[in-house]
Amino acid sequence: MSAIESVLVENRVFPPSEATVLAARISGMPAYEAMCAEASRDFEGFWAGLARNNLVWTKPFTRTLDESNAPFFRWFDDGELNASANCLDKHMGTPVENKTAVIFESDDGNVTRTTYRELLGKVSQFANALKAEGIRKGDRVLIYMPMTLEGVVAMQACARIGATHSVVFGGFSAKALQERIIDAGAVAVITANYQMRGGRELPLKAIVDEGLAMGGCESIRTVFVYQRTPTACNMVAGRDKTFTEVLAGKSSECAAEPVGAEHPLFVLYTSGSTGKPKGVQHSTGGYLLWARLTMDWTFDLQPSDVFWCTADIGWITGHTYVAYGPLAAGATQIIFEGIPTYPNAGRFWQMIERHQCTIFYTAPTAIRSLIKAAEGDPKVHPDRSNLKTLRILGSVGEPINPEAWMWYYKNVGGERCPIVDTFWQTETGGHMITPLPGATPLVPGSCTLPLPGIMAAIVDEAGHDIPNGTGGILVVKRPWPSMIRTIWNDPERFKKSYFPEEMGGRLYLAGDGAVRSADRGYFRITGRIDDVLNVSGHRLGTMEIESALVSHTALVAEAAVVGRPDDLTGEAVCAFVVLKGQRPTGDAAKAMAKELRDWVAKEIGPIAKPKEIRFAENLPKTRSGKIMRRLLRSIAKGETVTQDTSTLENPAILDQLGQAW
Ligand code: WTA
Repeated sequence: MSAIESVLVENRVFPPSEATVLAARISGMPAYEAMCAEASRDFEGFWAGLARNNLVWTKPFTRTLDESNAPFFRWFDDGELNASANCLDKHMGTPVENKTAVIFESDDGNVTRTTYRELLGKVSQFANALKAEGIRKGDRVLIYMPMTLEGVVAMQACARIGATHSVVFGGFSAKALQERIIDAGAVAVITANYQMRGGRELPLKAIVDEGLAMGGCESIRTVFVYQRTPTACNMVAGRDKTFTEVLAGKSSECAAEPVGAEHPLFVLYTSGSTGKPKGVQHSTGGYLLWARLTMDWTFDLQPSDVFWCTADIGWITGHTYVAYGPLAAGATQIIFEGIPTYPNAGRFWQMIERHQCTIFYTAPTAIRSLIKAAEGDPKVHPDRSNLKTLRILGSVGEPINPEAWMWYYKNVGGERCPIVDTFWQTETGGHMITPLPGATPLVPGSCTLPLPGIMAAIVDEAGHDIPNGTGGILVVKRPWPSMIRTIWNDPERFKKSYFPEEMGGRLYLAGDGAVRSADRGYFRITGRIDDVLNVSGHRLGTMEIESALVSHTALVAEAAVVGRPDDLTGEAVCAFVVLKGQRPTGDAAKAMAKELRDWVAKEIGPIAKPKEIRFAENLPKTRSGKIMRRLLRSIAKGETVTQDTSTLENPAILDQLGQAW
C-alpha cells in the first residue's frame, strides 16, 4: 500500500482556451456536468440512448442492464449486432466510404493509404478465407502479428464472422504463446513470417512453430502466415498457409455475422497477481459502444482529424484505439509499424508533420525516452518538425510525471493542445477517468474526473468512501458497458479479483491506489496496490516473473520479484534469487544474472527481463514462512529498512541483501 501514501501538491492549472471550448463536442464544464447528472438521474436510460444512437443493431435490444447474476453483468443482451459491420459497412454510402481509413507507415518509411471501402474489401476477403478453413462463430483465433494493416484486418475479419480473437503481443515468447493457445483453446493462429522493428527483421513464425511444438496445442488446425518480408520461413504442409494462398480467388464480399451483444469479441491476456496471466473477456455491444463514444468524448473527434495512437495491437490500447474505436468513428488514422527511435528519435515528430496528424496519443515512457533523446541531440527535438496541425495530445498506460507532462505540453503541443491523461485498464475496455479537451481544466499528473456514467470512487479497505485529500483504493461503484465480462475459463477468479467479498462484493476493484485533490476532487493515480508492475507501460505480474525464475529448476531454489521506481521506465523489475548452489559474487554473479535474464525472456518475453538480479543465501521471511515483500521493496529502492523486523525469522539476511545492492 506504500504507493497510495504519497500525495503530491500540484498548483498549476491549464484551463482550455475559449476557442477550444466553443468548438468542442462537450463544450465546457457545465456540459460535462449535465451529462453526469443525466447518468445519475436515469442510469439505464442514459446508456440505452447512447447505445441506440451510436451503434447499428441488426436486432434492437430491449433490456439495457441485467444485474440478476452480478457481478456477471450483461448489457443490451437481447440485441444483436456485428462489430466489423459497425466499423466498416456502416460507412458505405456515406462521405466516409472513400475517406482514408488508414495511413500506414512501415518501419522503413514506406507509406500506403487505404480507404474505408478498400478496407471493407480486405476484411471481407480475409473473413472468407477464415471461413474456408472451417473457422466458425465462437471459435477462438490467436493473432501474433506485426503492427501492420494486416493485423487490424485479421482482427476485423474474426469479428466479422463472430470468431473470438486473442491477440498476443509480438514480444512474447513461444512459451507464453503456447500457454495462451491452450487456455483459449484456439483453432488457428494468424501470424507473419517476420516483423520489422528498427531496421531489424525479427522472427514471428519460428516462435509460433516453437510454441506449437511444446505440446498441448492440438486444437490448432491452421496457421495463416503473412509474408511480411521476402525471407522464407519454415512451412508445415497441411497446417501452414500463406495469406496469398488462402486469399486467392476469395470474394471481397462477406456478409457480417450478427452476434448477441454479449458475444465475446475478444479475449486479451494480461498480468494479475498470480503466476498465470488472465484472459480478460470482452463483449461485442458494450465494448464497441465505449470504443466509439470515447473517440468523440475524450478525443473530441472531428471529421477532418488525423488520429494517431502509437500503441501496438497486442495491448488493449491498440485494440480500442487502433483496431476498433477510430474505425467505428469513421476517422482517418495513422498506423506505424516501427519504433520511435528509428532511424532516429525524431521519428514521431517527423511523422506528425508528414501526415498532418491532429490527435496524438502515446505513453509516458515514450515521452520520457524522447525527452532524453532530444536533450542529447537537438536534431531530434520536436522543434525541428512542424507540429502546428496537432490539436489534442493524449497519454496512457502509466502515471505521467508532471515534468514529462510539462515538456509534452510545451514542446509537442506548443502550449495550445490539451493533454488528455487517460486512466483505464485492459479490464475496463476503454477510458474511465480523463479530462475532456473542451471542458476540463488540466492539472499536470492528474487524470482529473471520471467520464459521464462512470461511477469511480476512492474507498478504504472495507469499501467505505473516504474524504478527498486522503489516499485510498480506486473502485467503480456501478457497472459500465465495456467492462470485463469474466476471466476466460475462470469465473471464480474473476469474482475474487475484481469484486472481492471483503469489500461487499459489489465494487469493481481496479487494483490501483488513488487520491482526489481536496479542492477540485481530481483523481490522481498513485500506482498498483497489488503485485502488478508497470514497466514502460507494460503490465507484468511479479508472481509471473517469480514462476519463470523458479522454473529454472537446475539453478534456482527460490525467487522474489518486486518493483522499484525508475526515471525512464516508470518501474523496474528487481529480482532476489536464492540459488541451489553457492551464492555467486563478482563476475560469476554477472554471468549468472545474464543467464537468468535470458531465461525470463524465453519464458515470458524480453519485456519481463529483470533489470537487476541480486543473489542471496536466503530471503527475508516471517516465522510463518511468508516472504516479506514490503521489506524487499525498501531494499530495492535503496532505502534503509525502517519496518519492524522483529517477526523476521532470519534477520541476518538483511545485511546481505542491503550491502550488496
Ligand atoms: C496504469 C492500459 C496512471 C494503472 C490502458 C492501470 C495508469 C494499469 C494510466 C492498466 C494513467 C493506465 N495514469 N496510471 N493515465 N493508464 N495506468 O491493463 O496502474 O495495460 O491499472 O491498460 O496501467 O494497464 P493495462
